[in-house]
Amino acid sequence: MRRELVIDRLGGHGDGIAKADGQSVYVPFALPGETVLADVEGERGALIEILQTTAQRQAPICRHFGQCGGCSVQHLAMQPYLDWKRDRIIEGLSLEGISVEPEPTLFFGPHTRRRAVFTAEKAGRDVRLGFRRAASHELIAIEECPVLLPSLEASLPVIVEALRDIMPDGEARIQATMCDNGLDLNIDSPGKRLGPISPRLGHLAEQHRIIRITDRDEPMLTIATPRVTLDGVELDLPPQAFLQAGSDAEAAMARIAVKAAGKAKTIADLFSGLGAFTFALARKARVTAIEVDKGLLAALDVAARRAKGRKPVTTLARNLALEPLSFMELNAYDAVLFDPPRGGALPQARTLAKSRVPAVIAVSCNPVTFAKDARALCDGGYRLNKLTPIDQFVYSAHVELVAVFNKR
Ligand SMILES: C[S@@+](CC[C@H](N)C(=O)[O-])C[C@H]1O[C@@H](n2cnc3c(N)ncnc32)[C@H](O)[C@@H]1O
Repeated sequence: MRRELVIDRLGGHGDGIAKADGQSVYVPFALPGETVLADVEGERGALIEILQTTAQRQAPICRHFGQCGGCSVQHLAMQPYLDWKRDRIIEGLSLEGISVEPEPTLFFGPHTRRRAVFTAEKAGRDVRLGFRRAASHELIAIEECPVLLPSLEASLPVIVEALRDIMPDGEARIQATMCDNGLDLNIDSPGKRLGPISPRLGHLAEQHRIIRITDRDEPMLTIATPRVTLDGVELDLPPQAFLQAGSDAEAAMARIAVKAAGKAKTIADLFSGLGAFTFALARKARVTAIEVDKGLLAALDVAARRAKGRKPVTTLARNLALEPLSFMELNAYDAVLFDPPRGGALPQARTLAKSRVPAVIAVSCNPVTFAKDARALCDGGYRLNKLTPIDQFVYSAHVELVAVFNKR
C-alpha cells in the first residue's frame, strides 16, 4: 500500500525507520527528518518519492549507490553518519546495562580498503563482477567502487578478464587483496574447480601484477608470494588469511592498543591472526600470539624471527572457543588483547573476568557480541575506561571498535 511516512531514525542496517499504525516500517535510503512516499508491505517500505528532505542528505560518492548492496549509507552528512556508527555501539552496550561515552569515531576512507569480497557470475565468456543488491540475490555489476584503494578499484576490469579464463560457469566468491607487491585473488566457486591457467591469463597476470590466484586453499598461479607489512614487519600472506580491511585503520587500532598496554612487559594477543597487534605490542613487551589457524601462526613466526627491534614473540595454536586460557594462565600477563571473529569471545571473556590482568584490550567488529563480552568483564570487576569506534568499513552498516578495560 502506498503511504506517506515520516522517518524518525536510522536503523542498524542503515534503513530509515517510520511508525505506521503503531508498527515500525523500514525504508531503505530514507533519512531521519524526511517525509517520504513509500510502497509498504509488512515492515518493508520501498521509497517512491521524498516529499520533504533534510539538510543532512548529501549526494552519494558512488554511481552504484542505491542498487549495489555493498554500501548502505552514503547519502548522510558526515557528522550524523559518524554518530550513527557510534550509536550502534552505545545501543549494544546499553542492552547489557553498560553506559559509555565513546571517543569520537575515527573515519578511514573512502579509497582505503585493501581487501574486498565480490560476487561473480559467469556464462560462457560473459562475466559480471559486483555485489548483491541488499536483501536480494540479484548481482549488481560494478564499474567503480570508491571505498577501495585506487589500485584495487583500478583492477576491477582486470579481475573480470582473469575470471573469463579461469572461472567455471555459475557463481563464485572472489576475495581480492591488494598486497605490497600486487594483487592476490582467491576464487571460491561452490562445488566446482577452477579451469587451468591459459597463456592469455598468464600474460594478463604478468602485465597487471596479479601475483597469485588460489582456488580456495590451492594455488593455481604464483608469480610472487603476496606480501603485507604489519607495523613495519613484512609477512607472507597465506591464502584466505584474515587481514584488517585497511592498513591505516589497522595502524590506528594498534596505536590505541600500545598506549593502553602502557608499561606491560608481557602481553597475550588472543585471536592474533597474522599479528596485526602482535608486532606493534612487541616493540615494548614480550608477546604470546595465540590463534587457532596454524598457517597464520607459521607466517607470523617466520616474520617475527626476521623482525628487527622487537621483544621476543612466541606463538601458540589453540582453539580459544573450546579451550580458552584459564584465569591462572592469564595471570602471567600484564595485559591481554583479544580480537575475536564476529561471534565474539564469551568463553574467553568469562575466564578473563576471573583473572587479575590489569589491562584488557578488546577489538571487535560486532557491537552486539562485544557487549556480551564486555558484560562478562564488568561482572568480573573490570571497568570499561575507553572505547574508540573505528569506521574502517566505510558507508556499510559495519563498525569496528577498540575498548580498554582495567581491573578495579
Ligand atoms: C577478527 S580476526 C583478528 C585477527 C588479527 N587480530 C588481526 O587484526 O588481523 C579473528 C582471528 O581469530 C581467529 N579465530 C577464529 N576462531 C578462533 C578460535 N576459536 N580460537 C582461536 N582463534 C580463532 C581467526 O583465525 C582470525 O585470525
